[in-house]
Amino acid sequence: MAAQTILHVTDLCKTYITNKKPTNALRNVSFNVDKGEMVAIMGPSGSGKSTLLYTASGMDTATSGEVMLDGENIATLPKKRLANVRLEKMGFIFQQMHMLKNLTILDNIILPATEAKSKKRSRKEIAEQGQMLMKKMGISEIAGKDINEVSGGQLQRACICRCMINDPQIIFADEPTGALNRSSSDEVMEMLCGLNREGTTIMMVTHDSRIAAKCTRVMFIVDGEIKGEKHLGEFTDGSNIRDRERTLNNWLMEMGW
Ligand SMILES: Nc1ncnc2c1ncn2[C@@H]1O[C@H](COP(=O)(O)OP(=O)(O)OP(=O)(O)O)[C@@H](O)[C@H]1O
Ligand SMILES: [Mg+2]
Repeated sequence: MAAQTILHVTDLCKTYITNKKPTNALRNVSFNVDKGEMVAIMGPSGSGKSTLLYTASGMDTATSGEVMLDGENIATLPKKRLANVRLEKMGFIFQQMHMLKNLTILDNIILPATEAKSKKRSRKEIAEQGQMLMKKMGISEIAGKDINEVSGGQLQRACICRCMINDPQIIFADEPTGALNRSSSDEVMEMLCGLNREGTTIMMVTHDSRIAAKCTRVMFIVDGEIKGEKHLGEFTDGSNIRDRERTLNNWLMEMGW
C-alpha cells in the first residue's frame, strides 16, 4: 500500500527583514512527510532548520509557498482557524518549553485539551488522559509539582505528554534533547521513538547524529535549501544503532557536515 502523505510542503520561502536588510532563511523548500515517519532536520547553525519547522507548522507565517496538512493549506488559513488546526492536529516540543509557572505539571499538560474546540471532553476524562500519558512517560510522581521543582529531563517528558494530549497527527520538535544531558536525551528519544512506533508522525530538528540515527529519514539543510536526504528505515529493537550512526555520519560528511 502506498504511504499516506500527511504534510505536503511546496516552494516554501521565508525572508526576514531586519534593518531593511533581507535574509532568505528558506528558499523554495519542497518536501513531503508520510504518515508514521520520523524525520530529522539537520544542518549548520543558521541554515534555516527552526525556520523550516516554524513555517511548516504554522507557528510562523511563510513569505510564500504552500503547506498542505489534511487537505488544508495552513500557510494561508485565517488566524483563528489556524490556531484550532494547530491545537487539534499538531503537537509541539521546544527547547524553551513554554510551560506556565502558576500551574502544576498536570494542569500544564492538559491545558491544550481544555482549549480545543471540537474535541470536547469532560475535565475528568482529560485529566485521566493526562495522568495516563504521565504514567507512560514515567513521570507520574511529578503531577502536582510546579515547573521549577522538577529536572530538565522530567520537564521535557512533561512537554511530550502535553503535545500528545489532543492526539496530534504530527509532532514538531525543535532540538527536543538539546538542553539535556546524555542519559535524559536518550530517555526523551526513547519516548519519542515509542510514540512514533505507535503511529505518531514526528518531524524534529537536531544537531546530534546520535539522535538523528534513530529517525526514519534525515533531511540536510544548508543556507535555506534542502541539500539532500537519507532514508535510514525504521529504528526497531533489532536495529544496530552503531551501524545506523556510521551510515548517517558517512553521509553527513559527504554533505559537508
Ligand atoms: N526572527 C528573525 N529575524 C531575522 N532573522 C532571523 C530570525 N530568525 C532567524 N533569522 C535568520 O534566519 C536564518 C535561519 O535561522 P534559523 O533560526 O532557522 O537557523 P537554525 O538552522 O535553526 O540555526 P540553529 O542551529 O543555530 O538553531 C539565520 O540567518 C537567522 O539569523
Ligand atoms: Mg534553530
